[in-house]
Amino acid sequence: MCDFVDIDINGSTYQLPVVNGIYSNNKAINISKLVENTGFITFDPGFKNTGITKSSISFIDGEKGKLLYRGYPIEQIIEKCSFIETCYLILNGDIPNSKQLEFFSQKIKKFNFLHPKFYEIINQIPNFYHPMGFLSFLTHIMTAFTKSNLIEGNDIYIDLLSKFPLLVALIYRKKIGIPPILSDTNIYYTSNLLKMFFSVSNKLYHHNPIIEDALDKLLILHADHEQNCSTTTVRLLGSAHVGLFSSISSGINALWGKRHGGANQAVIEMLEIMLQNGSNINKWINKAKNKKDPFRLMGFGHRIYKNFDPRAVIAKKVAEKLIDKLGIHDPILELAKKLEETALQDSYFQEKKLYPNIDFYSGIIYQSIGIPKEMFTVMFALGRLPGWIAHWREMKKNNDPIGRPRQIYIGYKKRNIDKSN
Ligand code: CMC
Repeated sequence: MCDFVDIDINGSTYQLPVVNGIYSNNKAINISKLVENTGFITFDPGFKNTGITKSSISFIDGEKGKLLYRGYPIEQIIEKCSFIETCYLILNGDIPNSKQLEFFSQKIKKFNFLHPKFYEIINQIPNFYHPMGFLSFLTHIMTAFTKSNLIEGNDIYIDLLSKFPLLVALIYRKKIGIPPILSDTNIYYTSNLLKMFFSVSNKLYHHNPIIEDALDKLLILHADHEQNCSTTTVRLLGSAHVGLFSSISSGINALWGKRHGGANQAVIEMLEIMLQNGSNINKWINKAKNKKDPFRLMGFGHRIYKNFDPRAVIAKKVAEKLIDKLGIHDPILELAKKLEETALQDSYFQEKKLYPNIDFYSGIIYQSIGIPKEMFTVMFALGRLPGWIAHWREMKKNNDPIGRPRQIYIGYKKRNIDKSN
């Protein structure tokens, strides 16, 4: 571990402080005074090599394919915790004991209702609007319907955690054209969500532990993931002192993108097209490798994971188990497995270290449960919510400065307006 590094710029040596993480391979050079001392800024499009904060929520070791939430490996959390326990862990720093869990669950139940205006407002919006647009909008307008004492207090994040599944179910029901249904706080979070999705007037959703377990695990896998695009968006807005609901509403918009959470919908759409066109896998692999073709293999590649994505490994197992237990024959899963196998043997994917990511198998799980494609990224957002909230709170607690990157200007040099001709 070193505390300083020397850099040489045009013959002058500058000593820069080192910021050390808890692991020796996680270290940064603090360049915050670089421009002041040398006149240089750093140039790093896409923040590929830039640390924006110190955080203690989650950690990824991309070379080893490791993911930790508050120090606990994702593989252990999946085996031993529920999604609600994971929310508590991410928000409060440790696994709750039974008393803490009961208190937390009761608090979530307390806020489990929506202002009646939500139902009126959502009715005014056309049905063809994408569910991610709905979710971002409804999250944003929560600001207008939340009592000011809550907005100021610590309960604000519990309020959001509690209301989010109601918004998600409301959007789903609006999309398929059935009226909203009340939440049932007597049952577990994920069971309640499925009940709110699949109950219709003459037939209530029938509790199914296989489906509930698969969905709960998928939510856990999404719960946090360091400084990804949507989390950074949430932190960036928070750094300007924007409120929690508006910051998260913007995070939802960032997640919507196909390079980010929107990839889960794009994967299934891609696999369906492949299936319709005769499943010629090599043709699609060659298309993905062709630099002149904008097509990319959706659900493949990751900025940090350069060996494998541990979430994808777990999601694949969850998908296989679910499909087996439900007794479904899913040609999409079969095709996905063949595609993965072929891509992993291809030198292009090997050299660029491109592996399946979480989105490669998550859509197959949602589809087996009966959740439509357009809702996939909304489900991702539901899972990511505790992470977004924890990062927003951490950013506030650290009093991080406002996020404001620099640029290299390549436009016109100063010139004068000439209207003479
Ligand atoms: N198919 C084909 N080539 C790819 C792919 C892919 N899926 N992903 C990356 N590459 C190539 C890319 O063309 C580039 O090649 P070259 O060095 O010759 O220019 C190289 O691999 C590095 O890619 P990059 O785009 O510079 O890497 P990045 O870290 O900026 O992007 C990524 C990461 C996830 C956006 C990208 O891999 C991608 O677009 N994947 C498909 C979309 C996807 O599955 N997204 C979900 C990400 S995981 C869940 C989440 O975080 O939301």
